[in-house]
Amino acid sequence: MKLVVISNRIAPFDPNKPQTGGLAAALEPVVERCGAVWVGSSEECGDGTERPLRLEPTGTGYVSRLDLPAADHPGYYRGFSNSTLWPALHSLPDRMSVSEDDYDSYQRTNGFIARAVFDARDRDVFWVHDYHLLPLGAQLNELGIERPAGFFLHTPWPAPDMVERVPNHLELMKSTLKYDLLGFQTNRDMNNYSAYLRTHFGLETRDGIVTTERGQTRLKKFPIGIDPRQFADYLAADLSPAEQKKVSSLLQNFEGSKFAIGVDRLDYTKGIDKRVEGFNQLLRTEPHSISLLQIAPSSRADVEQYQKYKEDVESAINRVNAEHGTDRWRPIHYKNDSFSQAALARLYRAAHVGVVTPLRDGMNLVAKEYVAAQDPKDPGVLVLSKFAGAAEDFNENEALLVDPNHPEEIAAAISKASHMPLEERVTRWRSMMDKIESYTIHDWAADYVSELDKSRVTVPADQ
Ligand code: UDP
Ligand code: G6P
Repeated sequence: MKLVVISNRIAPFDPNKPQTGGLAAALEPVVERCGAVWVGSSEECGDGTERPLRLEPTGTGYVSRLDLPAADHPGYYRGFSNSTLWPALHSLPDRMSVSEDDYDSYQRTNGFIARAVFDARDRDVFWVHDYHLLPLGAQLNELGIERPAGFFLHTPWPAPDMVERVPNHLELMKSTLKYDLLGFQTNRDMNNYSAYLRTHFGLETRDGIVTTERGQTRLKKFPIGIDPRQFADYLAADLSPAEQKKVSSLLQNFEGSKFAIGVDRLDYTKGIDKRVEGFNQLLRTEPHSISLLQIAPSSRADVEQYQKYKEDVESAINRVNAEHGTDRWRPIHYKNDSFSQAALARLYRAAHVGVVTPLRDGMNLVAKEYVAAQDPKDPGVLVLSKFAGAAEDFNENEALLVDPNHPEEIAAAISKASHMPLEERVTRWRSMMDKIESYTIHDWAADYVSELDKSRVTVPADQ
C-alpha cells in the first residue's frame, strides 16, 4: 500500500535529536516501516511559490518538507492552530484567542499544502494528522483527488459548547465530513464529535458511520501506542558522549534517594503548575521524602499564553525550592531543555515514580514510555491524570489515577507510589506492559491503514 502521511510537524529522523511532541515521535517509526511519503512543514517559510513535491529518502520512507507561505504562517500556526483550536480542543476557553484573519490564513495554508500533495495523487491513500489540517481532506476533494483520505486527531475532541467558540466552526466541521475515516484517541472524543454533528447538522452516527450527500464518513477509536522494543533497545545501546554526560550529571543529584519524573512540553495543558503545587503539599507532610525531576522543553514560545505559563511554572518551582530546599538538597530539578528518547529512557528507568498529570491530553505517550522503560523486577509506579487519553487504556488497578486540578490528590498519589510494596508495583506494571505490548504503534498504524483501505475498495467503479 502506497501511503501518503501529511502533518504540520515532521520528525527529525535522527536518534540523537529530541522529538518535538507525540505526533512526530509516533509517526517516525511508522513512516520508516511502511515506506510512506511524509509531507509537512520544513519549519522555514517561503514566498508561497508552488513547487513540485521534492522527496528526500529517510531510509525506507521519504519526507517532503514544504516551505509554507510566510504571509499566512503566523495566522495559521501561532494563531488559528495554537491560540484558537488548541485551547478549545483541550476545553480551556480562558486560554483562547480568536481572530477572523487567522482563520483565513489557516484555510489558505491548508490549500497550499493540498496543492503540493496533488503531485502524490498516484499513491493509494492519504492519511492526514492533527488539528492544523482539519480542512485538508475537503481541499484535496476540491482538487479532484479521489483516493481515500483519512484523518487522525492526536488531541482530545471536546464537547460541542467548546467547538462553538471557534470561529467558522460550522464550515470547519462540515469540511471534516469530507474525510472517509476519522480516527480518535478515545471513546469520549468520538462521542463528543458525534454530539456536535447531531446538535448542529441533525446527523446521527450509526454503528460508527455518518452518512452525508458525499457518502460515508466512518468514525473509529485508535488509541495510539509506542514501540516498546525501541525503548528496550534504547536502554541497551550507548548514548552519545554529550547525552551521557547530561544524563549522568542529572542522575548524580538523586543518588541514594527517591525521585519522581515529569516530562512534558512546556504547555499549559500539561498541568505542570498544579503538579508542582502537589509536590509542595507532599513535602509539607513528608519533608525531604522525594525529589522531582521536571523536564520541560519550551514549546510554541511565540504564543503569548505559553510565555506566561513558563513564568508561572518557573516561579512556582522557585517557591517550592525556597521553602523546602537546603544547602545539600534541592526538591525540584527543572530542565527547560529537550532530551533524545534514548536519554529519556534512562531517566524514566531510574525514576521511582512517573508523574503524568495533564489537565487534558489526547493520549500522552510519556505515560506509556515511562512504563516501557521500567525494570520488570523493580518497576516504578505511574501517577496518571484521569483526563489523559491513556487513562482509557490504564485503569485504577494499574496506574494511580488522579484529578490533575487537585494538588492534594497528586500529593497523596506520589506518596502512595513512593511507598508501594514491590509485589504491588510488579502486578500493576505487568498489567500495563501487557497492554502496551499488545497494541504497539505499528499495530495502531496497521489498524488505521487497513480501515482506511476499506474506503478504497468500496469506492463505486463509476467514480
Ligand atoms: N520528548 C522527547 N524529548 C523531550 C521531551 C519529550 O523526545 O525532551 C518526546 C517524548 O518521548 C514523547 C513526546 O515527545 O514521545 C511527547 O509526547 P506526548 O504524547 O507525551 O505529549 P505531546 O508533546 O505530544 O503533547
Ligand atoms: C502535540 C500535537 C502535535 C504537535 C506537538 C508538538 O503533540 O498534537 O500536532 O506536533 O504537540 O507541537 P508543535 O507545535 O511543536 O508541533
